Amino acid sequence: MDEYVTLETILTDSVAKKHLPKAGYNHAVTTAENAFELAIKRNVCPDLATKAGLLHDIGHTNWESQGEWDYKSYNDFDIHTIKGAERAHELLILKGENFGKAREIALAILFHSHSSPVSKNVKLTPLQELTSDADDMDKQAGGAHHNVEISFSKALQRVRRLDMLVCQQLQGCKDDCEECNQK
Ligand SMILES: [Fe+2]
Ligand SMILES: [Fe+2]
Repeated sequence: MDEYVTLETILTDSVAKKHLPKAGYNHAVTTAENAFELAIKRNVCPDLATKAGLLHDIGHTNWESQGEWDYKSYNDFDIHTIKGAERAHELLILKGENFGKAREIALAILFHSHSSPVSKNVKLTPLQELTSDADDMDKQAGGAHHNVEISFSKALQRVRRLDMLVCQQLQGCKDDCEECNQK
């Protein structure tokens, strides 16, 4: 394996610290935890799944108007999947991620939501479907899941636990990522 990039490395990066709080640390970490559970059940790579889960909403902008989530603007103009795929890719490459993994994670982020038309007529891969499902598992009416707050240190604690779980799962993984079918 290439040098391994952890979720902790990603979470503590300044780009992640700038953008992840917009959609909420709790939603990011919960989606990563959901992604881990689904990855085990569906035989998808837990490394790709948890990274895509953690970063899936990194493309969000503040859609707030007078302190409230502005759904009208969001529904009409959102491109958070596109911005997120690009931001996540740049962040992962900066941290030394394997190019093939960075591409798979970025594509899973690009197709995780139907809020922009990019997913229309796209047949999702198992990893892409898993990322979308892990996100949906944490959804609450009116976007309330974006407002569940946890501290950065709590997010870090949960991400470290996930890093250990992923590491256990990856032990003995000798697959070349390009050849691997767990995605
Ligand atoms: Fe999203
Ligand atoms: Fe989300």
